[in-house]
Amino acid sequence: MAKYRIAWLPGDGIGIEVLNAAKIVLDKVGLDAEYAPGEIGWDYWCKEGDAFPQRTVDLLKKVDAALFGAITSKPAGAAEKELAPTLQAKGLTYRSPIVRMRQMFDLCICLRPCKAYPANPLNYKEDIDLVVFRENTEDLYAGVEFTPVPQELSEILTRLAKPFAPFSKVALDQYAISCKINTRLGSERIVRAAFDFARKFNRKKVTVIHKANVVRATDGLFLEVAREVAKQYPDIQMDDANIDAMTMWLLKNPFNYDVLVAPNLYGDIVSDLCAQMVGGLGFGCSGNIGQKLAVFEPTHGSAPKYAGMNKVNPIATILAAKMMLDWLGETQKGQSLEQAVALVIKEGKVRTYDMGGSSTTTDMAQAIAAKL
Ligand code: NAI
Ligand code: MG
Repeated sequence: MAKYRIAWLPGDGIGIEVLNAAKIVLDKVGLDAEYAPGEIGWDYWCKEGDAFPQRTVDLLKKVDAALFGAITSKPAGAAEKELAPTLQAKGLTYRSPIVRMRQMFDLCICLRPCKAYPANPLNYKEDIDLVVFRENTEDLYAGVEFTPVPQELSEILTRLAKPFAPFSKVALDQYAISCKINTRLGSERIVRAAFDFARKFNRKKVTVIHKANVVRATDGLFLEVAREVAKQYPDIQMDDANIDAMTMWLLKNPFNYDVLVAPNLYGDIVSDLCAQMVGGLGFGCSGNIGQKLAVFEPTHGSAPKYAGMNKVNPIATILAAKMMLDWLGETQKGQSLEQAVALVIKEGKVRTYDMGGSSTTTDMAQAIAAKL
């Protein structure tokens, strides 16, 4: 029997190709694992009305970790009836399978390392080495949303929000509500994870991202909790910044930052910004980490226009596989894999289209495997 059981979730579009590429390097690095395929994504929504079927949920309960490619989601604002008429008739509504997976398995920590590998032609600046910790289960992604707004909710809000409630003057179907919900527990877990990481990997500073001067209740709580947690880590410097200022400062001087921690939405935004500074979507990797399960993935989506072309960069997914090796405790293998990626980037002989080359997804995976 293999040492590990890994759920293998290719999903849609290029998700399939980048996972095939990851398999080439995982086999070469010699991970003693059995890979159990799981179904997720657009096809399952169209066929079954569920993009994250129960059988996949059950599979995830019985594995050590999962590697996930990408899914195609329902286009924002699109009428469900045009896309899947029979489902509309059944009254089913689409919910992101990834957000559901994160909440269902309490994958509360989203870890996104953003490292500029030397000689990557896409580096914004050499030597950037940022790590983003994004809260992964609550905040504006809590999934508590209303459109149209129910009468009773409107009445309560109008009463509580007096005297300033512009929405109280419009019809219930003329506005929408998405709740930003942040808990002390959720905030504490992510901030603590960031500080623990900083301590373990000898990082100097944790920067807390928020907008507490305006979004006083939720972001105020996040910042308050962060300050309490920081007191328990006197060896690590803490500072904080507003999300808007942060995007500016990160571009101006990325070297002033080290570990970043943020509530869900700001973390989503800032991690894309940081990923772009180290090569963009072809390099952005991500770990969704809970107590019992962790799911690793590239941050990019299914890129339908490149699907089936064997063209996109698999490095993001290969780095996600490296994160998975580390999480499983196979740190030696993780390190070898990262070194192999760094070597191929530095040599510059094999480059996918985004790096200015014409190598295929498979070429890149094989070049990395050849260094192992
Ligand atoms: P996307 O990330 O799929 O692709 C946008 C563009 O980025 C591509 O057209 C391509 O130019 C580039 N790109 C993406 N991955 C690349 C790679 N590995 N190498 C080189 N270039 C790469 O975003 P898009 O087009 O907005 O979304 C497509 C679908 O994916 C949508 O249905 C969206 O909702 C979904 N999506 C899913 C995610 C997930 O599964 N985690 C995350 C983001 C989007
Ligand atoms: Mg994102």
